[in-house]
Amino acid sequence: MAVKQKVLTGITTSGTPHLGNLVGAILPAIEASKGKETSSFLFLADYHSLIKKLDSKLTHESSFEIAACWLACGLDPKKVIFYRQSDIPHIFELAWILGCLTSKGLLNRAHAYKAAMSDNELSGAKDVDKGITMGLFNYPILMAADILMFSADIVPVGQDQKQHIEMTRDIALRFNHHYGDLLTPPEASISKLTGVLPGIDGRKMSKSYNNTIPIFADEGSLKKTIMKIKTNSLEPGVPKDITDCNIFAIFKSISKENDVKSFQKMYEEGIGWGDAKTYLFDNLSLFLSSYKKEYLKIIKDRDYVESVLKEGANKALEVSTPLIEDIRKSVGIKGF
Ligand code: TRP
Repeated sequence: MAVKQKVLTGITTSGTPHLGNLVGAILPAIEASKGKETSSFLFLADYHSLIKKLDSKLTHESSFEIAACWLACGLDPKKVIFYRQSDIPHIFELAWILGCLTSKGLLNRAHAYKAAMSDNELSGAKDVDKGITMGLFNYPILMAADILMFSADIVPVGQDQKQHIEMTRDIALRFNHHYGDLLTPPEASISKLTGVLPGIDGRKMSKSYNNTIPIFADEGSLKKTIMKIKTNSLEPGVPKDITDCNIFAIFKSISKENDVKSFQKMYEEGIGWGDAKTYLFDNLSLFLSSYKKEYLKIIKDRDYVESVLKEGANKALEVSTPLIEDIRKSVGIKGF
C-alpha cells in the first residue's frame, strides 16, 4: 500500500468562527481530507490562544465553537484525526526539546514578534519588548512541535503563516542533523484564497484586527457587519472596479465562477454600494444556511463534541507516543 500523505492544520481558538476560518482553512481542509491518498490531522490550537488573550472563558468557549464549526461543515471524525492540542502533552514536551536547539536569532526574525516590536517603536515606548510575552516569542516553536509531532508532509496555511513553516523545516533539519533522522520537514501549501480574503476594513480578515465576519451570527448582525464593509465613495451609476474591492473579494470567496461573472457585470453597470452589500448579504446568508443549521444542532450537544475530541485524542496519541519515545531516547532521556 502506498504511504499516505499526511496533511495537518490547526486553528487558534481565540474567537468565534469567522468567514476567513471557513473559506481559508476549514472547507479546503475538509475537501482535502476526502482524498484517498491523504490522512488528515485537524486540530484546535487551544494553547496557542493564550498568546493572544488571557481570557479563560473566551479560550474555552472559542474551542467549543470552533470544534462545533468543523463538525457542522462536514468534518468526518471517522476519516480524519480531529483533536485538541491540549489533549496531546507530547506536543509540549517536543516544543521544549525543539526550543533547546533553536537559535534565539531565528525567533527574533519571526514576523509576529517583529510586528509587536515595531508597534512599540512607533508608539515611542522606551522598551521595544514592552508587553511582549515569551508565549508570543516562542509561538513558532509550539507550532513547529504541532507539525513535527505528527510527521506532517503538507501544512495548508495562509500566506502569513508561511514563515512559520519555513522555520519548522529549519528546526527539523537541525534536529535531524544533531540526533538522527526522526523528524519530517514539512511543506507549506498556500491557498490563493487565504492570502487575500479581506476583513470588513480591507486588512486581512483576522480576529486580531477585529474585522471578521462571524459566520453563525443571527441574520440581523450579519447584515450589520456586511453594511460596515469599507468601500470607496463612488456614486451609484458610476462603473466600479472589482480589484481591491472588499465586497467583491468576499463575494468571490463563497461563489461559483458564473455568479462571480454576473456580479462583475453589475459592477460594470454601476451598482451602488448599498445594493452591492445587500447582494453580498443575500448570497452569503444562503451560502451559510446549511452549515448554520447543522451548527445550531451540534452546539446543543456538548457531550457529543467532547466525545468526538476524546476519541480523536486517542487516535492522535497512538501516532505521537511511539515518535516521542524515539525522540526521548535520541536526545538521551531514557531509563538506566
Ligand atoms: N498559527 C496558526 C494560525 O494562527 C494556527 C496553528 C497553530 C497552526 N499550530 C499550527 C496551523 C500548526 C497549522 C499547523 O492561523
